[in-house]
Amino acid sequence: MTIQAQDPAAEIPGKPTSASRTTLSHIMTGSDTNLMGTVHGGVIMKLVDDAAGAVAGRHSGGPAVTASMDEMAFLSPVRVGDLVHVHAQCNWTGRTSMEIGVRVMAERWNESTPATQVGSAYLVFAAVDSDGKPRTVPAVIPDSERNERRFKEAQIRRTHRLARLRAIKELREQQPDEA
Ligand SMILES: CC(C)(COP(=O)(O)OP(=O)(O)OC[C@H]1O[C@@H](n2cnc3c(N)ncnc32)[C@H](O)[C@@H]1OP(=O)(O)O)[C@@H](O)C(=O)NCCC(=O)NCCS
Repeated sequence: MTIQAQDPAAEIPGKPTSASRTTLSHIMTGSDTNLMGTVHGGVIMKLVDDAAGAVAGRHSGGPAVTASMDEMAFLSPVRVGDLVHVHAQCNWTGRTSMEIGVRVMAERWNESTPATQVGSAYLVFAAVDSDGKPRTVPAVIPDSERNERRFKEAQIRRTHRLARLRAIKELREQQPDEA
């Protein structure tokens, strides 16, 4: 009798993008500033990681850790008093990893204008079990044309990330040990 290995992902029902989409909102205070008096980029990155982590936990139904964060773009400064909204969603899923896309919007405290985009980022989270080992995630089901486009774009980023990691690993293996 032949025993066939089962794909664990095939047994987990997929989830639509909308099921785990999350927004965190936060008013910036004086303790969030850098020497220029605007909000420190690291404060925004923490909010981005928090929002993305909430999505990864919701989508995967358990703990998930940040594996990488890339293409973090700061488009314009955030100021004290601004109300920042961090919108995050699962763009793509692999076997145990998820790409989370994040858009950062700011409502200026002293202007009655709509929120403007001030940043964006893509993060990869790996779902982990109680031993910290990667575990299988449900497939994300893009639920709109825009989310289908995001899925395809995330797949391109994934290919480039893996190629870059592989190329650097190969280069380091060819180099003599550094002192
Ligand atoms: C992320 C982590 C769980 C990966 O564990 P691992 O033993 O290397 O497992 P794998 O190689 O099977 O990687 C698991 C998944 O993550 C992806 N992944 C791992 N490292 C990655 C990276 N640097 N960039 C993008 N994806 C990555 C893999 O492609 C794989 O995805 P897939 O299953 O969908 O194909 C492990 O490196 C870890 O625990 N890192 C620390 C995470 C952490 O503490 N974050 C908070 C920082 S304070």
